[in-house]
Amino acid sequence: MSPESQRVLISLITSVLPVFILIIIYVFYCKICMFKRRKPAKVRELESGTNSEFITYRMDKFLNDIESEKPIRFTSHELMRATNNYSNTLGSGAFGSVYKGTSVDGSVVAVKVLRGGISDKRMEEQFMAEVGTIGRVHHFNLVRLIGFCVEKDTAALIYEYMSNGSLDKYLFGENNKSLAFEKLHEITVGTAKGIAYLHEECQERIIHYDIKPENILLDDDLHPKVSDFGLAKLCNREKSYITMTGLRGTPGYAAPELWMPFRVTHKCDVFSFGMLLFEIIGRRRNYDANLSESEEWFPRLVWIKFESENLEELINDCGIKYKDMDMVKRMARIAFLCVQYRPELRPMMSVVVKMLEGSMDIPNPTNPFQHLMEEDVPTIKVAQKEVSINVVSSLQVTESSIVSSSPEIDMDSIQN
Ligand SMILES: Nc1ncnc2c1ncn2[C@@H]1O[C@H](COP(=O)(O)OP(=O)(O)OP(=O)(O)O)[C@@H](O)[C@H]1O
Ligand SMILES: [Mg+2]
Repeated sequence: MSPESQRVLISLITSVLPVFILIIIYVFYCKICMFKRRKPAKVRELESGTNSEFITYRMDKFLNDIESEKPIRFTSHELMRATNNYSNTLGSGAFGSVYKGTSVDGSVVAVKVLRGGISDKRMEEQFMAEVGTIGRVHHFNLVRLIGFCVEKDTAALIYEYMSNGSLDKYLFGENNKSLAFEKLHEITVGTAKGIAYLHEECQERIIHYDIKPENILLDDDLHPKVSDFGLAKLCNREKSYITMTGLRGTPGYAAPELWMPFRVTHKCDVFSFGMLLFEIIGRRRNYDANLSESEEWFPRLVWIKFESENLEELINDCGIKYKDMDMVKRMARIAFLCVQYRPELRPMMSVVVKMLEGSMDIPNPTNPFQHLMEEDVPTIKVAQKEVSINVVSSLQVTESSIVSSSPEIDMDSIQN
């Protein structure tokens, strides 16, 4: 090759080769990009659920999650083993006794054995309501139902165990000063949130019917959990009320409409919550027959002091510290709103939560006990006669729940 042609070849190679190399690099680059683009598209496809394998996986997981949330069915034999033959009683109520136990997975549980199995119609009603409702409801301030047992001779509900027992222990009796008022205030907020959830956030509204300190349980960290949906009845959200056929609730906490053949709504829980607030302020039972007539019914005493602008004096008498004064005054005003005689005048529980937390102003309450203080209320005169009898008797019986017969009310006289 002549030197001239050698030069031509070298210049050709030096000019063409880089272009060739660049083309190869570009082709490689494009391939990599296409590959990269294809991969996210696949992931997107999986994520959007268009891939049938992925749908099955998601569905399976979802069903498993549901399955694990469902209350477990126990046999009576398993319950006997779990409770060590029912040797550790936690307490008893209107429907049966509660025992401490240990589940097979080692978790501590509370087993509520319903008296007399489920032969009785009312028991069956309670059992079905509890399993059906609590099993589906999950909230930080509600006691979880872990399982149930239905056999010929045994009907029981298995709940998560609340190591600090029920609120009544901290309000009444020797232990009643062991919780700081701030803690009690936190307990009222948590309790109100639990009830608000039942009323306003569940797919189907749940009315508790039996809000009282015995049904507010406290966990390891003293967080409140509302227990016992035993008296709860599912109530369609569209319906604003249901009509009760028998008496429910506990005297002293039950709203007046529960004692009468009138429409009952979720506002009956608001009433009971108001009564609970008074007991928290006073750290005493609302009704105490051992006290003088002017002091024996605490809510009325609080109203009289509030009306005469002497509430601070009463708060002092209750042993509440000066720093908690504003909080207690707020709680008293909220309690008056909650126990208004007419259900529609009582606030929703979500509003109660906001008022308790201080994020909402509290309207000035009107006297909720007017009907008890006045002799004659012309608008509902005949019913009033019955109401006053029932309300007074409700104040006198504070120990047990009313679980049986309907009130003896003369319907004809009410209608006339
Ligand atoms: N999950 C639980 N964990 C710990 N203690 C519990 C639990 N459930 C109930 N208890 C205790 O057992 C006691 C009795 O409960 P039970 O529900 O039978 O009766 P009650 O709440 O007094 O009345 P009611 O029958 O009207 O609800 C409660 O007061 C409480 O101290
Ligand atoms: Mg209870």
